[in-house]
Amino acid sequence: MPSANSTSNPLDLVQRPRRLRRMAALRRMVQETQLTVNDLIYPVFVMEGEDKKEEIVSMPDCYRYTLDLLVKEVADAYNLGINAIALFPLVADEKKDNQGTEGYNPEGLVQRSIRTIKKEVPEIVVITDVALDPFSSYGHDGIVEDGVILNDETVAVLVKMSVSQAEAGADMVAPSDMMDGRIGAIRAGLDDAGYTDVGIIAYSAKYASAYYGPFRDALESAPKFGDKKTYQMDPGNTDEAMKEVELDIEEGADIVMVKPALAYMDIIRRVKEYSDVPVAAYNVSGEYAMIKAAAQKGWIDEKKIVLETLTSMKRAGADLILTYFAKQVALMLK
Ligand code: PBG
Repeated sequence: MPSANSTSNPLDLVQRPRRLRRMAALRRMVQETQLTVNDLIYPVFVMEGEDKKEEIVSMPDCYRYTLDLLVKEVADAYNLGINAIALFPLVADEKKDNQGTEGYNPEGLVQRSIRTIKKEVPEIVVITDVALDPFSSYGHDGIVEDGVILNDETVAVLVKMSVSQAEAGADMVAPSDMMDGRIGAIRAGLDDAGYTDVGIIAYSAKYASAYYGPFRDALESAPKFGDKKTYQMDPGNTDEAMKEVELDIEEGADIVMVKPALAYMDIIRRVKEYSDVPVAAYNVSGEYAMIKAAAQKGWIDEKKIVLETLTSMKRAGADLILTYFAKQVALMLK
């Protein structure tokens, strides 16, 4: 015989998960992952000159700035609550060579930018990229010999770059090159030069990805021959990511990174479960471009997609997210 209750509970369920989704306040109470401005790192592009900004064609609303304008952009970001920037330079072709010499020029664009930013916005964490590609005539992350990217010779240059960036005032250096042994060598080089407090964010699990295309447009740094598959990782691999992370932590990485993010959420999760240092994920240029393009077509709701995407990266295990959406998100979260 049906009880009075069975009309309102025909399935006779004890557990009804929808109870916790009934009202906005309840949903907020049980939300597990919340994106905050503290999770964000803002990658920025700097170029030579004065009073100029150029939109990157494949990255709408994202610009290369001359240093004077970049300082304003960085100050804006800091005022919105963003704690850190990652700095990338556009280097003139005539300054590029196979050894990436311009990368450790004390008067180079990167070094001048660090000094100026640390003077004008001293509280923001300045993270610098360590790799040869923006400075390389071949557009590769290392020194090229007979079509091969040399490991140990490249690492020696990476150490010089890191020390030079630390000297200019970088708070953290971020080797994105994927050479073997570079984290240990850079840690030793920084320590020997007295920069024991300069940290290392290691691009540990960095995949050979087509998602970097727009970034290479931004820096005019696409490889002149071949691809990056002899140093960046195969998208089909997971165990290899763990090996890289393990080595980087052993060698002294303060933070490890998975890159790209969106197509590599499983890697973020696995690294997070293993790692006892914070995990960063890089929401790379191609991921940015896809969202922007679809939004410009009116096919998706940009703001909602951005928040959902970054929240998912955090849910996957990212403690920090490098994203070109950083300022936009900081505004949305206000
Ligand atoms: C270079 C570097 C790349 C990115 C960051 N550092 C490109 C590459 O490895 O070719 C990509 C960032 C992005 O796509 O947003 N070492």
